[in-house]
Amino acid sequence: MATRGSGPVITAQNLRKTFGSVQAVKDVSFDVEPGQVLGLLGPNGAGKTTTINMITTLLQIDGGEATVGGFDVRTQPEVVRQLIGLAGQSAAVDEKLTARENLELFGRLYKIPRNERRRRIEKLIERFDLGAFADRPASSYSGGERRRLDVVAALVAEPPAVFLDEPTTGLDPRSRSELWNTVRSLASNGVAIVLSTQYLEEADRLADEILVIDRGEIVAQGTPDALKHDLERDVLEVHVVDRTDVDTARELLGLDANVTTDVEARRIDIPVPGGADRSLDLLRQLQDGGVSISNFQLRQPTLDDVFLALTGSSVTETEEVTT
Ligand SMILES: Nc1ncnc2c1ncn2[C@@H]1O[C@H](COP(=O)(O)OP(=O)(O)O)[C@@H](O)[C@H]1O
Ligand SMILES: [Mg+2]
Repeated sequence: MATRGSGPVITAQNLRKTFGSVQAVKDVSFDVEPGQVLGLLGPNGAGKTTTINMITTLLQIDGGEATVGGFDVRTQPEVVRQLIGLAGQSAAVDEKLTARENLELFGRLYKIPRNERRRRIEKLIERFDLGAFADRPASSYSGGERRRLDVVAALVAEPPAVFLDEPTTGLDPRSRSELWNTVRSLASNGVAIVLSTQYLEEADRLADEILVIDRGEIVAQGTPDALKHDLERDVLEVHVVDRTDVDTARELLGLDANVTTDVEARRIDIPVPGGADRSLDLLRQLQDGGVSISNFQLRQPTLDDVFLALTGSSVTETEEVTT
């Protein structure tokens, strides 16, 4: 099914949802272009699933608007459903059926003609490497195999918009990186993707744009690099040759008491708001003061630093492993 117009594939504008007294989603807006991955990053209960469910027509929208392929989610839900693939936390896979049979079922659901269906399914099995378990019942799959089938099932209809709700939660590192490759490959084929996650590293690696969401509200928005840059907290890590130089450096640079130094490790961590220029200055001052530097690096803050600064709590603290 074709989309209408050439703009963003997915739009959300001022989305709101209330459950009783809980404002699950307060004012969420974003656009996703073809080939773009939008990361919805937030802890448990942030409103990620509610946001996705509203756009995918599973949940009624209380306020605001959403479109997929140019079609209004509220007024044309049946058209929208033809344009989306959804891999959710509650897997839509039938345990008794094999991967091939599950995909066949999805293909029939979308009324894809038989020959075309067969062709697509074989292509998906090959491309996403499901061959090893494609003819075993899904009840025998590992967590990673099941998630991959769940994601691939969302692709049978070749939708231009794909929603992945925490696709790697609870997966081991290897399955996680396989799923990351799947997502990258989809995006490179022009699919617009909304991916929710509690994992900072996942958002950092996959998303072109990240929405940090907390208690139903967007608390920050931008590319992974921009989010880290905004924090203006690059850290210059300096290693010195002599232990005594740790204190010398502290005096030379007039460092605050809160700058961490480790005399044993002969290491000084200096927050540098000015990034590279400021770092060069500091290194020169140390050199001029006779401090021998064995090594140094300017490192970016992690997304965990960003989340901590924005919400006062760490995403990883609330990370929960589900199976
Ligand atoms: N059907 C529901 N009824 C009542 N409260 C709900 C329902 N679904 C979600 N919530 C609440 O809305 C908030 C957001 O939930 P959710 O969107 O599932 O967050 P996330 O997917 O980010 O973990 C939570 O406080 C959750 O308890
Ligand atoms: Mg959720």
